[in-house]
Amino acid sequence: MRILSGIQPSGTIHIGNYFGMIKKMCESQNDGELFAFIASYHALTSVKDSEFLKRNIFEAAVNFLALGMDPEKSTFWVQSDVPEVLELYWILSNHTPMGLLERAHSYKDKTARGISSNHGLFSYPVLMAADILLFDSNIVPVGKDQIQHVEMTRDIANSFNNSYGEILTIPEAKVDAEVATVIGTDGAKMSKSYGNTIDMFGAPKVIKKQVMGIVTDSTDLNEPKEWENCNVYGLCKLFMSDGELLDLQKRYATPGEGYGHFKLSLLEKINAYFEPYTAKREMLLNNPDMVRDILSDGAKKARVIASEKMRIIRASVGLM
Ligand code: ADP
Ligand code: TRP
Repeated sequence: MRILSGIQPSGTIHIGNYFGMIKKMCESQNDGELFAFIASYHALTSVKDSEFLKRNIFEAAVNFLALGMDPEKSTFWVQSDVPEVLELYWILSNHTPMGLLERAHSYKDKTARGISSNHGLFSYPVLMAADILLFDSNIVPVGKDQIQHVEMTRDIANSFNNSYGEILTIPEAKVDAEVATVIGTDGAKMSKSYGNTIDMFGAPKVIKKQVMGIVTDSTDLNEPKEWENCNVYGLCKLFMSDGELLDLQKRYATPGEGYGHFKLSLLEKINAYFEPYTAKREMLLNNPDMVRDILSDGAKKARVIASEKMRIIRASVGLM
């Protein structure tokens, strides 16, 4: 079974990205053959600063490797190092009705938020379909926002297969119902676009400031506090065992401690959780050549599969 997923290198990673996506992706290395890539071409739809993009591609690679991506077990590469995907993108464009793209929620949301529309943004789902179909992927683990893109991939693949025979593998989206949306410091969905994130590997001072800035009510130190809807408690659920949460509930119910104390407990847990990954991350940051070699080996492995698949696809459409 082939599992494929991509992440866009479009900003500093936060704990929402980690619990919503990176952790799942690393764990799926035990469920089948994992193909994971950094979606550098996709990032061009939102990033127009070359230095920023370069740095983010490198940092995304370092973070994934530090957090458990195993290049021995999985194929891990940068999308633009396997340009065959762009040829497939063009071929698939001819099996993509305009109406299908016009109905894409993600495109409609982005344009509604004022992001100016261009052909790259509009045809983004066709490139995503090419990513998935080039590698005969069976399973695509995604967040809720990406389900429609996998549905579109299936439609495009079926249209292609109707014309040329059973050439493309029809993929399935896998949505993990257990992973709820991680809340940000203001209680809304944590997102880099809302400025409510808690970084994973930021400077200690920065992370402390983010945690201490979590929005709470103003119940006095000497009053019992409600934990049910508290943002601090909500984030603690990601890092504490059931026993630790029960203890925390007692602390909420007992006058004498304030939200500042609970935030410090959360901060300690966050630091302890990510601490085991920091040494490897530092080592990789200090050895960029090692990271480049890993990505280049991954691209070579991916390219063998991609070029063979493209040979079949080219022949099937009559491009020989
Ligand atoms: P952001 O909202 O910060 O821009 P992205 O859209 O780049 O994040 O998301 C990258 C990945 O992380 C996606 O798979 C997405 O589902 C996941 N993700 C982002 N924010 C959260 C969150 N608050 N809770 C759970 N998963 C999230
Ligand atoms: N569109 C995905 C996101 O924004 C990233 C992505 C690009 C992807 N190509 C993919 C995810 C192929 C899964 C499969 O999160």
